[in-house]
Amino acid sequence: MSATSVIGLQWGDEAKGKIVDLLTEEHDMVVRYQGGNNAGHTVVADGETYKLSLIPSGILHENVISVIATGVVIHPQALLKEIDGIVARRGAVEGRLLISDRAHVIFPWHMLEEAALESNRRDEAIGTTMRGIGTCYRDKAGRTHAIRVGDMYRTETFRSRIGEIVEFKNIVLKAINPDVEPLDADAIFEEYSEYARRLKPLVTDTTAYLHHALDEGKRLLFEGAQGSLLDLDHGTYPFVTSSNSSGCGVHSGSGVSERVIGRMLGVAKAYTTRVGGGPFPTELDDEIGQHIRDTGNEYGTVTGRPRRCGWFDAVATRYGARLSGVDGIVIALLDVLSDLDELKICEAYEIDGERITDFPSHVDSLAKVKPIYRTLPGWKTDITGVRKKEDLPAAAKSYVDTLAEVIGSPVHIVSVGPDRLQTIFYNE
Ligand code: IMP
Repeated sequence: MSATSVIGLQWGDEAKGKIVDLLTEEHDMVVRYQGGNNAGHTVVADGETYKLSLIPSGILHENVISVIATGVVIHPQALLKEIDGIVARRGAVEGRLLISDRAHVIFPWHMLEEAALESNRRDEAIGTTMRGIGTCYRDKAGRTHAIRVGDMYRTETFRSRIGEIVEFKNIVLKAINPDVEPLDADAIFEEYSEYARRLKPLVTDTTAYLHHALDEGKRLLFEGAQGSLLDLDHGTYPFVTSSNSSGCGVHSGSGVSERVIGRMLGVAKAYTTRVGGGPFPTELDDEIGQHIRDTGNEYGTVTGRPRRCGWFDAVATRYGARLSGVDGIVIALLDVLSDLDELKICEAYEIDGERITDFPSHVDSLAKVKPIYRTLPGWKTDITGVRKKEDLPAAAKSYVDTLAEVIGSPVHIVSVGPDRLQTIFYNE
């Protein structure tokens, strides 16, 4: 069992980046397997801050290979910009970064279609990141209008496929908005051929590469993007992302069987946040919510949008944990709650007078639930300097132990600040 997987258990932004970075030293490769440049995380390495979106944070470690696997959707401009940033500050990436030739490519029409779809919704907007993620995955599932990384190196078919797709997309885009500028197939072909040329040294069959790596006993670390409740199949549909962002996506997105995963770690914040639309039972639309937002700097890394904040929701997090089959939990950002007099944990929902502990399968039901809270005292002490479980104030320990109890999984790690050192190995 040579692999570890790190999964977000809520609606994303659980501070997985720091945990992946912490665990990278024990691994030979970090594998990203779903999502695209809708994800974003900030990692501090050697005193410098790096904002990464598509490239796994393993790139900041000299001897670690970073793999962007098959299930990721790739916006080449965004990827090249990130690569250029890394090259400028840390040297060449060749041999340290691999990109799957099976991954799908995001084109300009994906962004234009997404903008048109989101603004045309009669219901509440999904509140997407507008990066063309959902529209690229839609074309991937539809097959007719999809282009994979490997297709960009078959020059003549690549040119004719772009021509064919642009003809169709122009008809659709014009029907939605008669004033729209038509897309120019030749210009897109030239532009993307140049991106393909630059990416070529990094492109390979990552599935075969990972299979060989496992045969050689290499230790793999799978880095999930977004969180379990944004999973396309199991999340709060339609307010989800378009990939399997729970642990269910590791196998399909990387081509590596989940049977090699020896450790599945679920990351949850000590409270809850959500960006974009959709129901959020424990949302705090008051000064406590604002306090959490300000203290936790809860503003999107990719879009800068303020995140919606609320109390810890154990019904939702337990569901996320069960979907992924986690062995242990990481509780992140515990320090953000330090100033509060009392804390609430939602341990069940009430719907139509009935108490439920299963997460509802339809968002209309989720929108109707009333949280049933357990109230705990706050600790009112700065805990950012704490490094050992026994040094945590009794109320903070009791809060963490209650989270473990209501989620039904042991807590392995507690994070009390962004620095690597601000970490408590809770089960030691
Ligand atoms: P999309 O992934 O851009 O299609 O957006 C779909 C939903 O997922 C929206 O509610 C986004 O705010 C949310 N989302 C996408 N990526 C992230 C992320 O990295 N963190 C948190 N929410 C995300």
